[in-house]
Amino acid sequence: MRILYLNGPNLNLLGTREPDKYGRTTLAEIERRVRQRAVELKAAVEFRQSNVEGELVNWIQDAQGKFDWIVLNAAAYTHTSIALRDAIAAIQVPTIEIHLSNVHAREEFRHKSLIAPVCRGQITGFGPSSYILALEAAVTGNQF
Ligand code: DQA
Repeated sequence: MRILYLNGPNLNLLGTREPDKYGRTTLAEIERRVRQRAVELKAAVEFRQSNVEGELVNWIQDAQGKFDWIVLNAAAYTHTSIALRDAIAAIQVPTIEIHLSNVHAREEFRHKSLIAPVCRGQITGFGPSSYILALEAAVTGNQF
């Protein structure tokens, strides 16, 4: 099981960025926790972050055939990017949308996700645990 974690704009600033909303855990620490759990679940994880929309699009396109799942915190691009949505729709890699904060409990412009309709599901509001929950969802996969 190969899982690609993609992180969008400003998530490189986790730890110091608006800690009242996103906590004080850095992205490097989140990655460390994900890797620890991935070992237990026998999953291989790759972790990337970019502030550039097109780079995220390239990574999504490139995931085809290389990864079994994408876990995507598209950050602000969640609410704006038709390009990310089209990239997810264009490939056959199931994608899980995640957020640290509960986007539905925040400003109205965050209630709309352009990527949600093309994702397998959405995990939002559990802080760094959103990343771990996505890993567990990917590993248990298509079992209904
Ligand atoms: C976020 C929520 C988004 O609305 C916001 O733009 C982010 C982070 C989250 O993880 O809570 O940058 O994706």
